[in-house]
Amino acid sequence: MSRRATIPEFRARKGKERLVCLTAYDVLTARILDEAGVDLLLVGDSLGNVVLGYETTLPVTLDQMVSHTAAVVRARPRALVVADLPYLSFHVSPEDTVRNAARFIREAGADGVKLEGGAVRLPHVRALGEAGIPVMGHLGLTPQSVLEFGGYRVQGRGPDAAERILADARALEEAGIFALVLEGIPTGLAERITAAVGIPTIGIGAGPACDGQILVTPDLLGMGQQVPRFVRRYADLRTTIGDAVRGFVSDVKQGEYPGPEECYPE
Ligand code: KIV
Repeated sequence: MSRRATIPEFRARKGKERLVCLTAYDVLTARILDEAGVDLLLVGDSLGNVVLGYETTLPVTLDQMVSHTAAVVRARPRALVVADLPYLSFHVSPEDTVRNAARFIREAGADGVKLEGGAVRLPHVRALGEAGIPVMGHLGLTPQSVLEFGGYRVQGRGPDAAERILADARALEEAGIFALVLEGIPTGLAERITAAVGIPTIGIGAGPACDGQILVTPDLLGMGQQVPRFVRRYADLRTTIGDAVRGFVSDVKQGEYPGPEECYPE
């Protein structure tokens, strides 16, 4: 097994090769994604709506995130493992943010954390840097702001909104983030931000100009029912899993499973 990648290596790959990132929430999937060549596994707080069945990411707790991050790290991936700071774990004070983020490093073994938001989060990002915790930023359609946005709407349309996001990107870079997720913004704005910062931008619904791309893995695998327009489905696991389980149901009901070769002889 090759060694785990490092944050400086990831950062230095801007402009040299496109970076591939996916979400992971468990050891089984993390192993498969890692073996397929993904550069960074994000334990996203999309855990909330994708895996745990909540409507939004807001109810996800720190304990849930730490537990799922530890599971992904137990896959011993070569890819970086970055954990999302869930809602309210980085909103109170920089001290509180460092204490919460440190759980991902100490208890779960993550390489860094991600947090949503711009200028208002700069003291928190700086405090994390002082504690030696690498931080990934996240701007644009930040799902934890769904109540404020009034839904999952594309952000950064119009000159004022675009300038605000560009200024936030520059300020976050200055504060020390090692990479920046750009979600749900127009292609041209993502291109401007990518050109303006020296750290990798990772797009999700932000067009092809970003330094890398990320998707929510169950969306890419065709497991979710409704997906945003930017998702490309590379598999239809909903059908594949459904067919497999229907086969099992039928075999058990008809007494065809287990067969002699699936039993232990005396
Ligand atoms: O929680 C999440 O999955 C994310 C995305 C960027 C994919 O933040």
